[in-house]
Amino acid sequence: MQRKIISTEDGSKTLFIPEMDEQYHSVNGALTESEYVYLDKGYRHNQSATPVILEIGFGTGLNALLTAVEAEKKKRRTIYISLEKYPIEATEIEQLNYGSLISEEAEELFSALHNSEWNVKTEISPYFHLLKLKTDLTQFSFEELPMVDVIYFDAFGPDKQPEMWNEEIFRKLYGISNSNANLVTYSAKGEIRRRMERSGYISERLPGPPGKRQMLRATRP
Ligand SMILES: C[S@@+](CC[C@H](N)C(=O)[O-])C[C@H]1O[C@@H](n2cnc3c(N)ncnc32)[C@H](O)[C@@H]1O
Repeated sequence: MQRKIISTEDGSKTLFIPEMDEQYHSVNGALTESEYVYLDKGYRHNQSATPVILEIGFGTGLNALLTAVEAEKKKRRTIYISLEKYPIEATEIEQLNYGSLISEEAEELFSALHNSEWNVKTEISPYFHLLKLKTDLTQFSFEELPMVDVIYFDAFGPDKQPEMWNEEIFRKLYGISNSNANLVTYSAKGEIRRRMERSGYISERLPGPPGKRQMLRATRP
């Protein structure tokens, strides 16, 4: 599938797939959305001192980058596992400007995240260990994962990729969630919320990032 680099409202870039008419992040600000939905409402909200994060869709690595920067800043030992079926190309990585928008340290972390080998747990920095799994979520056997504390559910939209948002997947995610684990996503659809609830999660609607009225956060009681 062909992808194009586009600029978003806050100056950060993202990828756009013309064939799907879908982008990797909000056009109202890629960095702003990641920071708000995943960092603020997910990673910072969760109380685990040494969290295990599971991300659905590594994509550009933006969520991973922001989490790595925060883990180092707060000295919060973090294990980050991310599933991805279609890794992006080196030429695309070079054109994304996330590191330079944040700091020199972030630029180095961004390269390290992308240079790390697929399917091998890698120490990116003292407080951030990464395991990128090149796999298809819909075929994935969740038994090989540890219990997790925060899930970044960052698949393409439910209308574009409904198979990623079905109840069976939320049930499997619930099964590997620790007590008080959080699942966050940019989607606020009522049907998605009901699927989370039927899987055992308690869900809440939160105010969304710029351009989106609401988002969802689910918690395992
Ligand atoms: C909205 S983008 C993710 C954005 C990413 N979190 C980031 O920060 O750039 C959705 C991601 O899910 C990936 N994806 C699509 N189908 C998948 C599947 N069946 N299994 C795993 N990943 C998939 C896409 O390739 C894409 O990288």
